Amino acid sequence: MPSFPITLTRYILHEQASHPEATGEFSALMAQIGLAGKMVAHDLRRAGLINVLGVTGATNVQGEAVKKLDELANETFVRVFQFSGLVCALASEEMEQPLYLPENWPRGKYMLLVDPLDGSSNTDVNMPLGTIFSILRYEGRDKLPSEGDLIRGGREQVAAGYLSYGTSTVLVFTVGQGVHGFTLDPGVGEYVLSHEHITMPARGKQYAANDGNYHKWPAGTRRYVDWLKETDKTGARPYSARYSGCLVGDVHRMLLGGGLYLYPGETNKPEGKLRLLYEANPLGMVVEQAGGLASTGTASILDVKATTLHQRVPLIIGSRDDVQEAEAFIQGRRT
Ligand code: AHG
Ligand code: MN
Ligand code: MN
Repeated sequence: MPSFPITLTRYILHEQASHPEATGEFSALMAQIGLAGKMVAHDLRRAGLINVLGVTGATNVQGEAVKKLDELANETFVRVFQFSGLVCALASEEMEQPLYLPENWPRGKYMLLVDPLDGSSNTDVNMPLGTIFSILRYEGRDKLPSEGDLIRGGREQVAAGYLSYGTSTVLVFTVGQGVHGFTLDPGVGEYVLSHEHITMPARGKQYAANDGNYHKWPAGTRRYVDWLKETDKTGARPYSARYSGCLVGDVHRMLLGGGLYLYPGETNKPEGKLRLLYEANPLGMVVEQAGGLASTGTASILDVKATTLHQRVPLIIGSRDDVQEAEAFIQGRRT
């Protein structure tokens, strides 16, 4: 690859050239995700000035209060992908039913699943937010996809990634050949390759979990988190707690510096909180491509059988050794 500056556009075209069978549609799709990310970032930066803080008053299919910015980010993704010629279906955490796009059919052979705004408790307090996306290929040729075509296992994703809206806007994604990060240069409006071939440390020294749920967790999970806080003679523990309320922000931290994020199952809610198709699968693919692991506590996230569009799943994601240790406690192999 030639040297600096490698923009997202240049990078995508370079990758496309090594796939003679590529039609350019996937490259265009990634460029549109970059565009949607710029639009969301633009709205987030001036949110306090354009009357989009706070809630809409509606409740989404997850039973959660919809923030104005959740709605705005969702609309942005819909606007960017309708009439794009690129995707024939779009499913979102914020929409009960997927959107089927006959205007893009039959050209658009991809399907997009998105958590348009992740970490929405952070919207009104200038804290990190994100967008998570998962891309599937639709093989059908005689009709538009239906809901069942979108409910697929994590290993069927052809690409996945996220946008992290923090002090800068960073786009991280994988097409199954490693993970790369691009930072938006706001001066020129271009994403520039800033993190090539991200490799996670095998172990970190930080964990992210909502400790307020401690008493709802099963004994193995509680024991694991207690163990992280104990002092170890070698200095390997205690781990530091770092929980932002934004899965993307926390996973981005762990991707670069190691450690793990947990949103475990609870005794009375074993399915946990996070969504398999919009959150766990795409981040699971990114983290595994960077050498880490994503687990339910008993199985790899990417092997979970998807049965419903808005399915929830416990998520333990991060550095390989840390996730394996958490699994050992959760499964009772360590105490
Ligand atoms: P979303 O804003 O898309 O609903 O996701 C919120 C997720 C995740 O980003 C975060 O780590 C977690 O839920 C926070 O949940 P708690 O407030 O229960 O800790
Ligand atoms: Mn989310
Ligand atoms: Mn969301």
